[in-house]
Amino acid sequence: MKSADIIESIYKTADATHDELRFIIENRSGESARMLYGLARERACEYYGKKIFVRGLIEMTNYCRNDCLYCGIRRSNKKVQRYRLTKEDIMECCREGHSLGFRTFVLQGGEDMYYTDDIMTDIVASIRAEYPDCAITLSLGEKPRESYQRFFDAGANRYLLRHESADPEHYRRLHPAELSLANRMECLRNLKEIGYQVGAGSMVGSPYQTVGNIVEDLLFIKEFAPQMVGMGPFIPHHETPFAHEKPGSAELTLFLLAIVRLMNPKVLLPATTALGTVENNGREMGVLAGCNVVMPNISPMSVRRKYMLYDNKLNADAETEAAYESVKKSMDAIGYEVVSDRGDYAG
Ligand code: 5AD
Repeated sequence: MKSADIIESIYKTADATHDELRFIIENRSGESARMLYGLARERACEYYGKKIFVRGLIEMTNYCRNDCLYCGIRRSNKKVQRYRLTKEDIMECCREGHSLGFRTFVLQGGEDMYYTDDIMTDIVASIRAEYPDCAITLSLGEKPRESYQRFFDAGANRYLLRHESADPEHYRRLHPAELSLANRMECLRNLKEIGYQVGAGSMVGSPYQTVGNIVEDLLFIKEFAPQMVGMGPFIPHHETPFAHEKPGSAELTLFLLAIVRLMNPKVLLPATTALGTVENNGREMGVLAGCNVVMPNISPMSVRRKYMLYDNKLNADAETEAAYESVKKSMDAIGYEVVSDRGDYAG
């Protein structure tokens, strides 16, 4: 089989075997990439047109009880100035975001026990009451099922929890001993059962990752069928054990994003900030490889530099409005249009 035949077959069937995926990844070329991107764009266009959905990202806390080896806000990093946003801070971000046109708010943070279920539920309910036309996405890590249920009942619609690696051994090498892939999977299943639109995903080029691991990530995503997939390059952070590891490449990331699009035709697929960080115009290239979501930061300026999961994060200093305008312009320049829309999964 040639790469072109395999890509054609993935396009037609939205499925692939382990060996087929391994083959096209290991033998990828400029030519096969161009073919893949073209088909991925076509697929995205079929369900979403040339629309790009934006999500307003609110980084609500950089306190974290976890110690993930790759992450800049891991608890062992004593150099981070920790912060928490109050409910009022968060409401203010939503107000500004809503007036700019955002119709999805993403509340993301480390696993911070300060925000009890009561506090979180109150924040979610307040946003829900004030913005009935908006989707609320949470990205707050692993919680008991009851907590997920309470947030959902309070009005949250979506939850992002990357699986990070579908291989238990690789997962262990990226995380401290108290975390396990089994628990991660349990959380993902619970979220889905409760009724959230769920986002899974992984980093590209994380330490120890093999092509086999990548293929298993793609097959896990196909099987779990999340509504959203977050996949961006690993980028080292200087205050972590992975400080001297190599970053993941934009080129491989784009190739994989396009495969994700073909295997999961309706998926909501962000061109990540990490992709825009490792490559100039990375987010635009992501869209041209089948992505249809961008997640500009709408956190208060005062905390932007403190939420650093990796070094040199794109737009860390840009004002909310300026960053949003620049996303609009850059999408426009490649023939796509940022829309003011909840951007739900195509049913
Ligand atoms: N490089 C790239 N992505 C990272 N994340 C955390 N640390 C890094 C890093 N150093 C990703 C993880 C997490 C998401 C919020 O950010 O995949 O799930």
